[in-house]
Amino acid sequence: MFNVETIRKDFPILSRKVNGKPLVYLDNAATSQTPQQVIDVIVDYYSNYNANIHRGVHTLSQEATDKYEQARYKIQAHVNAKFAHEIIFTSGTTHGINLVANGFSSLLKKGDEIIVSALEHHSNIVPWQMLCERTGALLKVIPMNQEGELVMAEYDKLLSKNTKLVFVNHISNALGTINPIEYIIEKAHQVGAAVLIDGAQSCPHIKPDVQALDVDFYVTSAHKMCGPTGQGMLYGKESWLKKLPPYQGGGEMIAEVTFEKTTYADLPHKFEAGTPNICGGIAFGAAIDYMNHIGFDAISDYEHELLEYATTQLLQIEDLKIYGTSKEKTSVISFNLEGIHPYDVGTILDKLGIAVRTGHHCAQPIMAFYKIPGTVRASFSFYNTKAEIDVLVAAVKKAKMMLS
Ligand code: ALA
Repeated sequence: MFNVETIRKDFPILSRKVNGKPLVYLDNAATSQTPQQVIDVIVDYYSNYNANIHRGVHTLSQEATDKYEQARYKIQAHVNAKFAHEIIFTSGTTHGINLVANGFSSLLKKGDEIIVSALEHHSNIVPWQMLCERTGALLKVIPMNQEGELVMAEYDKLLSKNTKLVFVNHISNALGTINPIEYIIEKAHQVGAAVLIDGAQSCPHIKPDVQALDVDFYVTSAHKMCGPTGQGMLYGKESWLKKLPPYQGGGEMIAEVTFEKTTYADLPHKFEAGTPNICGGIAFGAAIDYMNHIGFDAISDYEHELLEYATTQLLQIEDLKIYGTSKEKTSVISFNLEGIHPYDVGTILDKLGIAVRTGHHCAQPIMAFYKIPGTVRASFSFYNTKAEIDVLVAAVKKAKMMLS
């Protein structure tokens, strides 16, 4: 049974105070908090079996290697990948996207086209612009509407035999819109294009099934789903990962090195040069265990309840506007108070112990679309409560009074 009060006890940070007030942590889309179960795994690693992996016959190295590879199996099972070697450990979503973008440098030519969406985070825009500069490929953009949804009729028009790649986030970090990725993937495949889905914002809420989606690449970060920062994963279909060249050269990614020629290791090691974030990978596995223990169905049902409650309560405040009103959305509310800068609201909320993100949320094109400098963004997790939303609403009212 889902019991938020019991769950909250797993998160030591939730009982601290900020500026003398109980912390109300509503910046989960930026990073989630870490349960004791995952903290314990991190402490255990450094206390008991810290060693480099894949490199030693000694016991510590073997223990660390086993746990690290077990984590890869956990991620494989979680996203339902066909093979464990289709899971590449990365430092985070941005790393995974850059790895793929770099790999396509040698596969694209002038006149090829890449499609991204108007709802992307900068990390799913800039690497593709850099790829276009290197190859002469053209970047096209699926437009958005006032509700913060992608316009699929326009996507259909952008697709052609020149389309080689499509990159879209599963869920918008700035607005919370859940994009119709099944449709996007199917249509892209009809013209022979590969698809990368940025799952940084979806993995905290939804369990992706990469085989059912038939997606070519799926990337995410551990720190948005109760794991540590500096850790993420790239899923790639075996056929694509075999085709792409390595991203970085170094130790562990080789089969044999001579000064004349180097041959590369098999998957997944071909893409994992250097000593990885070993503890991070193991803790990522523990975070997945933790979230599965709570249950993703229970998580999305409860978060949806929080979203509906917060939306209704916030909209009762006069002159408060919510950006991103798609029916398909997750527990993110981006809003502004008319005539008041989001930064000023965020500063007052912090004084009252409430953590939200303010600004453009690394999605400047969305802010340009709405002609605003930024928003206040409250993003809810399964450990938040309706009582915390009441605290937020009262604080926003207070900020409005102070700043009007
Ligand atoms: N991408 C993260 C956010 O949306 C950092 O806040």
